Amino acid sequence: MKNILLLITILFFSLIIFAQSNPFKIALIPQPVSIHVTDGSFLLPQNIVIGSDSNEEGVQKVINQFKAIINTSTELNILNTGTTTTVSFNILKIPDETITSEGYKLTVTSSGISIFANQPAGLFYGMQTLLQLFPPEILSKKKVHIVKWEIPLVEITDYPRFGWRGLLLDVARHFFTVQEVKDFIDQMAAYKYNRLHLHLTDDQGWRLQIKSLPELTEIGAWRAKRVGRWGEWTKPAPDEPKTYGGYYTHEDIKELVEYAKQRHVEILPEIDVPGHSMALLASIPGLSCTPGTYQVNAGDRFMIWEGGGRFYGLIDNNLCPANEKVYEVLDKVFTEVAQLFPFAYIHMGGDETYKGFWEKSDAIKQLMKKEKLKDMHEVQSYFVKRVGRIIESKDKKMMGWDEILEGGLAPNAAVMSWRGEKGGIEAAKMNHPVVMTPNSHTYVDLYQGDPVAEPPTYSMLRLNQSYKFDPLPKGIDQKLILGGQANLWSERLNTFRSAQYMLWPRAFAVAESVWSQPQSKDWNSFVSRTEKHFERFDVAQIKYSRSMYDPIFTFSRDADSTIIINLKTEVEGLNIHYSFDETFPDQFYPAYNEPLRLPKDAANLWVVTYRGNQQVGKQIKMPVEEMKKRIRK
Ligand code: ACM
Repeated sequence: MKNILLLITILFFSLIIFAQSNPFKIALIPQPVSIHVTDGSFLLPQNIVIGSDSNEEGVQKVINQFKAIINTSTELNILNTGTTTTVSFNILKIPDETITSEGYKLTVTSSGISIFANQPAGLFYGMQTLLQLFPPEILSKKKVHIVKWEIPLVEITDYPRFGWRGLLLDVARHFFTVQEVKDFIDQMAAYKYNRLHLHLTDDQGWRLQIKSLPELTEIGAWRAKRVGRWGEWTKPAPDEPKTYGGYYTHEDIKELVEYAKQRHVEILPEIDVPGHSMALLASIPGLSCTPGTYQVNAGDRFMIWEGGGRFYGLIDNNLCPANEKVYEVLDKVFTEVAQLFPFAYIHMGGDETYKGFWEKSDAIKQLMKKEKLKDMHEVQSYFVKRVGRIIESKDKKMMGWDEILEGGLAPNAAVMSWRGEKGGIEAAKMNHPVVMTPNSHTYVDLYQGDPVAEPPTYSMLRLNQSYKFDPLPKGIDQKLILGGQANLWSERLNTFRSAQYMLWPRAFAVAESVWSQPQSKDWNSFVSRTEKHFERFDVAQIKYSRSMYDPIFTFSRDADSTIIINLKTEVEGLNIHYSFDETFPDQFYPAYNEPLRLPKDAANLWVVTYRGNQQVGKQIKMPVEEMKKRIRK
């Protein structure tokens, strides 16, 4: 009896210790460099003082941002002075080189909270970490009657692995309003992203006012409205009203640049040329090598994608490198782009240029003769180098997608490597700066769960694959890898809610890949932390995908031709329940524990995942016809 009591006592106390030292109680994304947790917490008093010993503008801005959040969601009173400062934001008197310009030291003790950094950016990131230590209700849009604003006792030292931590937002395929872009900036900055790459132009829209070329937005920003499945939409009739779209005025851009700056985000503008230029061709006649009239693409088919990076143009959507007027137009465009965006780089696109129409063009043949260009890659390279000279003449540096390596890289150009790591490695070996954004890991417009249960898109990129992203290729000097970026292309994202759904949680994974040290990455810990951030997003009313909970299907056939179904999940510890009887399964239905043989007359497999008694995945119906199709492939 005594032994049993002793055992119960030991069990009881070990449970308490476990609860206190449970590493998942603190759920930070991205994981900091070092975190030391002590038992206990700091309870914010009703009256708090938020202060600094510095009057520096950058410091005061961070303080004001923190105060605004406290005032929005809590009922705490912020006092101007007091005997002690509850939350202090201070610049280190003696700079600490290990934490660089964006790092910070955050300490929560039983008497208060302090953040130290070398620069205001570090204080800003320290504040983001501190907010993640608060209960999720801190993200509420209105005041919450919460009993305790309690913060765990921690000592955190943190700094980023890479200086370029980017997210691309494609505002060309679908336009997002200034307010939506601001929300996007807030959300990215909360996860310590610091580069917003705005994809401002494409076949489906020109989104930036160019005062010297008003037709670019009068015509190019608008297309025929379509609803349904992208890529299969009907071609617009020439006289059809073009009412769908929008653009940013100079005033909008100034507002966005300033808003981003306050959140330590630089905006990288992209003007995508010479391909992806149908909106430009529709606005200013005569810039293509193929004569004709052009319309802003409405999501109708104009390119055949054959897979494996091969594509075939049905309409020439390129600017003509042999036409001097093209460079005059681009000079005007980049003059205004350079004035509007203070960031050092301008992105000129350069991707996916279908060369078939250039091959047929007499003007291109003459250009090749004159400039001694031996193939279409060199024609493209001639164009890119001229654009590079225009951009450099505006005191900016040029960046382009990795296709700009083809035919010879422009001097000084930085390369954004999207078709895997290859282009980035090649550019780095030539001493050019590189941003890694391989579609294998960072294209957050791709499927994150099985296509039968997701909005239609291209190929698969599950969360665990995004989490494996490492911007630094083996054997490459880190100095040349500026960092990494996730890209959110918006062909199929008609709404900002759908953009959020595609972005999160994969942008958590990429945030950790660009900020955290590789040795601190751990998939199971990441999943647990992600779940805590789902709770935060529920409060903040940000949409996200729960597809990481859904099963991954593989199908094969047995010797007797019966379909064999294999199921697994990327998240550990889930039960998959299933039925073949055309009813919704739940936790009382059979649990999957070995490959299933498809019953003879089944039409569908129905599955759902649970953790214990809690449904975590969605109800998914997998048709037998789909199984057969996948086996044939
Ligand atoms: C790209 O995805 N075409 C850069």
